[in-house]
Amino acid sequence: MSDLKIFSNKLSVDNKRVIVRLDLNVPIKNLKIEDDTRIKVIEPFLKKLIKDNAKVILLSHLGRPKGKTVSELSMKPIFDYLKDKLDNKIFFYQGKIDQKAIKASNNLKAGEVLLFENIRFFKEEEDNDENFAENLAKLGDIFVNEAFSCSHRRQASIHKIAKFIDSYGGPLLNKEISSIDLLIKNRKKPVSCIIGGSKVSTKINVLINLIKSSDNLIIVGAMANNFVKFQNKNVGKSIVEVGIENIIEKINNLAVKSNCKLIIPIDCNTSNNIKGNSIYKSLDELNDDDIILDIGKDTIDLINETIDSSNTVFWNGPAGYYENKNFSAGTIAIAKKISENTKTKSLISIVGGGDTIAAIQNTGLENSFTHLSTAGGAFLECLEGRELPGIKVLKRN
Ligand code: 3PG
Repeated sequence: MSDLKIFSNKLSVDNKRVIVRLDLNVPIKNLKIEDDTRIKVIEPFLKKLIKDNAKVILLSHLGRPKGKTVSELSMKPIFDYLKDKLDNKIFFYQGKIDQKAIKASNNLKAGEVLLFENIRFFKEEEDNDENFAENLAKLGDIFVNEAFSCSHRRQASIHKIAKFIDSYGGPLLNKEISSIDLLIKNRKKPVSCIIGGSKVSTKINVLINLIKSSDNLIIVGAMANNFVKFQNKNVGKSIVEVGIENIIEKINNLAVKSNCKLIIPIDCNTSNNIKGNSIYKSLDELNDDDIILDIGKDTIDLINETIDSSNTVFWNGPAGYYENKNFSAGTIAIAKKISENTKTKSLISIVGGGDTIAAIQNTGLENSFTHLSTAGGAFLECLEGRELPGIKVLKRN
């Protein structure tokens, strides 16, 4: 990673307009930020830029509005949050990325901050549109990508913008890639990967790659339902993907061929509605009305044994519907075990993903892994060994 252009203290930002692409994609419910981890981690860098008299222009996306203005996905709650945290003046810009926006950035005084509205309200962002990126670049004098967790996206404010402006990786981005790189290179066998989330089809390449490079692959979360269903079990009303039997079969076969132990849940906690109470069931007891919402106690034991026999664990994605506390036990149990073994048995652990972090917040376990990554998809693509488009453009030519 030495060929990466990294923002350093030697770079003077005095009176310069510094565009910072952040990942402020935080969970918000009824205009309230439910987990502020992703904001907290970038606060020191913002404060430093302010202290060094930069004019700070902040860009981020929130959710997936698909090029439309969606009021629930406005950055306003984040603006209010930042206003409270940053001692300096912060302004909110909600218009198009045009001459008026460029003027607003030019009008900033040293130490002031301008937060732009959700960049994905513009279709051109996800299209990685050249003109749009050029206009974005005109908002500043230098560009800093401090959104490692978005760097797998080939989108204008991450990727194409770097074509038009002097661009750097931010300190957090640098820390993330150096740590992940180092840990991937130094992984000690046996290696176990725990992957949650809902969709198998979007993670197929990651899973295939992990099978080839791991000793154990543990699948949890809603995606595990597809594997349970493949064993001809009734999964009731649980989330499953339609028409992916061939993918499941391919994964099962590859695991056998690669000598990777594929571990899927052997019991669960269910309810007939996501807000309900938890009922423990074996996988043979599920009714048509049941929704699998967490892994059961025997699955937790099996995962714990696997973690105990591992020297490296990569974990991404909660084990259940943690948003309802009745179904957070599986996720918390995994977090506790990994944390304990990291502290007492020198386990190398990398834990990643916005949901995973949200699920374990306030448990006190957040700081007890070898590396806690704010990234979900980007982290998985790194594990896959892929070069992220947003990182590639930060390399020296
Ligand atoms: C994330 O939450 O992983 C990042 O913010 C990227 O979001 P995306 O998957 O919508 O691009």
